[in-house]
Amino acid sequence: MHHRPRRNRKSAGIRNLVREVILSAHDFIYPLFVQEGDANEDIAAMPGCKRWSIAGLVQEASEAFALGVPAVVIFPAVDEKLKNPTGDEAWNSEGLIPRAVRALKTACPELIVITDIALDPYNSDGHDGLVEDGKILNDESVEILCKQALCHAEAGVDIVSPSDMMDGRVAAIRKTLDSKGHEEVSILSYTAKYASAYYGPFRGALDSAPKAGDKKTYQMDYANVRESVREAILDEEEGADMIMVKPAGAYLDIILRLKETSTLPIAAYQVSGEYLMIKSAAKAGWLDEKAVVLESLTGIKRAGADIILSYFAKDVAGWLK
Ligand code: PBG
Repeated sequence: MHHRPRRNRKSAGIRNLVREVILSAHDFIYPLFVQEGDANEDIAAMPGCKRWSIAGLVQEASEAFALGVPAVVIFPAVDEKLKNPTGDEAWNSEGLIPRAVRALKTACPELIVITDIALDPYNSDGHDGLVEDGKILNDESVEILCKQALCHAEAGVDIVSPSDMMDGRVAAIRKTLDSKGHEEVSILSYTAKYASAYYGPFRGALDSAPKAGDKKTYQMDYANVRESVREAILDEEEGADMIMVKPAGAYLDIILRLKETSTLPIAAYQVSGEYLMIKSAAKAGWLDEKAVVLESLTGIKRAGADIILSYFAKDVAGWLK
């Protein structure tokens, strides 16, 4: 036999030499939840994750940073009383997110702080944009998203990450930021964000599920591939610095497609439902958590992701140490 592929697998040393994809703590963005008050509260549907106080958030982010995780993205649990149909709290400069950004940048200036741009945590309708007669308004929503992005830039954020899927928002946010002297603030666009049942636990964590209807008129149909290419071309033209595929595990073909289509870095988000599936199977004793987490994340990187958002980021950084 001329060809014995097993020779390249014969020892750990050889396998290390020929390995194509190596996960690193530097690949990760760690998503974290923040709430008002002093309590760090467990999230029932996301075992191991908490809604942190600002102090708790700073502590957790600093620990992750010390382990080599370069970035966090933060999501707010907003008091129901502050929610209204126009989501005004989204651009309150004294709101939870701007205060959290300032606290993070003060405590850990080198940490890359990313914020989510969308109205769902602030909007009494639970949608990413404004709702009128059951319809999600596009251009009116984009105006508010620009105010939100500017508010976060003024608080000192490194990257804003529009997750709303409104048309034209990347160009509008870029223009707003540049006009106010924030040319250095980057845009990580949720380019191919699919209307997915895997977001369930996240919406529970923030109490941000739509009060009526679903998100299918703005998030993408999970049956479509070519549409993700169209979104990527638009985001690139509009000035995105990085583009994202979300969810990740069931969308590896989309990650590969965008990697081949675009010259921008590709991020992929292993979302709350993906996290919960692994956590609950491991808790029942049916799966080896560490092994499955490393396999799932290596698969996402192998498909083409340069950056991975994962609730396992800190654990992985610890394991890789
Ligand atoms: C909000 C947003 C969502 C997620 C990230 N940003 C929820 C949604 O679009 O309904 C989901 C993240 C996760 O499930 O881990 N626009």
